[in-house]
Amino acid sequence: MPKRPIDHPADTASARNSSSAAKPVLPPSSDTPTPLLGNLTPSQFMRRYWQKKPLLIRQAIPNVEAPLSRDELFELADRDEVEARLITHFRNKWKLEHGPFALDELPSLKQRAWTLLVQGVDLYDNRARALLDRFRFVPDARLDDLMISYASDGGGVGPHFDSYDVFLLQVKGKRRWRISAQKDLTLQDGPPLKVLQNFQAEEEWVLEPGDMLYLPPHIAHDGIAEGECMTCSIGFRAPSASELTAQFLYHLAERGESASPSGALYRDPQQPAVERPAELPAPLVERVGAILAGIKWNEQDIASFLGTYLSEPKPSVVFDPPQRPLNEARFISRASKSGIRLNRKTNLLYNRRFFFVNGEETLFNGAKKWLIDLADHRCMSAKRFVTLSHDSSVTALLHEWYCAGWIEVGELA
Ligand code: SIN
Ligand code: CO
Repeated sequence: MPKRPIDHPADTASARNSSSAAKPVLPPSSDTPTPLLGNLTPSQFMRRYWQKKPLLIRQAIPNVEAPLSRDELFELADRDEVEARLITHFRNKWKLEHGPFALDELPSLKQRAWTLLVQGVDLYDNRARALLDRFRFVPDARLDDLMISYASDGGGVGPHFDSYDVFLLQVKGKRRWRISAQKDLTLQDGPPLKVLQNFQAEEEWVLEPGDMLYLPPHIAHDGIAEGECMTCSIGFRAPSASELTAQFLYHLAERGESASPSGALYRDPQQPAVERPAELPAPLVERVGAILAGIKWNEQDIASFLGTYLSEPKPSVVFDPPQRPLNEARFISRASKSGIRLNRKTNLLYNRRFFFVNGEETLFNGAKKWLIDLADHRCMSAKRFVTLSHDSSVTALLHEWYCAGWIEVGELA
């Protein structure tokens, strides 16, 4: 049976926050102090704390509203395409289950010590996407997703460490965080999730709605709900060297440009008959080594790989093209009145020569300022659209993206 979709502000007239969902939430400019970072400027924060040390920020977002209510989060956890996990710590035993979870599969709200984690909420809700947008003083290439956790009293995921940079924003109720820069990151053997064997808290705070904790990778932490609570984790990916290497080689091979000279096909005209057929022939190793040594790449290959790889939507992402798309003329007329915005699932990156949208690479062709601005602001005003609409190559491209569900006609000022 199809699941009832979460009501997005863009989809329903009655939804709360409908106006703010349509407006872009711009990140603070680099040199302006902001409460979000404890009155540091983004530049100061990046210099002093990013990837270096934790920072507790009281009232980073005063009067914060949870992007989703508890019930909306539970509904999201019941959708097939959404990554949801349930972690319970009943009778001193950790248990991990993967969603989707129907409402009656979740423990009772009265039951202590359980947590529901829902990943990638920004893909499904404009308010969540708007919250993520506040953190765009960090390059999009590093931004991963917004996870929202709901915990009953005493709930948590156990003391652990992440390989991610993360901002933990308390949006409902209270959570006690304990952290440690300990070197011993040995994990317990038994539990189905990463739980540290010897967690020695060095600092401890109770976070209330609006408070936020920034943690760089590998800082041990443990957050325990005091009464029911909700926490938003704004996470930043840092692919490992081995993942990057494997993906880059795959990218080169896929492009068929692995610079292997045409004569590099494996050949063995000198292969003698063998007495030991199972033995790996040494000349084979040597010859393949020579082929691999011939693989060449330049900086553009690397940028091209990163642009396509990092703008590729996660495997679970499916775009929702408009059911009755406007034809190009009507699209132009609507966008000329209300502007456009990137769909919350769209990733648009660029470098000097190329732009990368949802895993596809395109060489900039002619004027590119508008595309750069669209990528940086994730929206375009009606006024700007009108100016650009004289160029049919621009409107054709944007109409194509609109038909694919990559952009939306939005009510932007
Ligand atoms: C949570 O929100 O419960 C866990 C987040 C984390 O520790 O990374
Ligand atoms: Co964590």
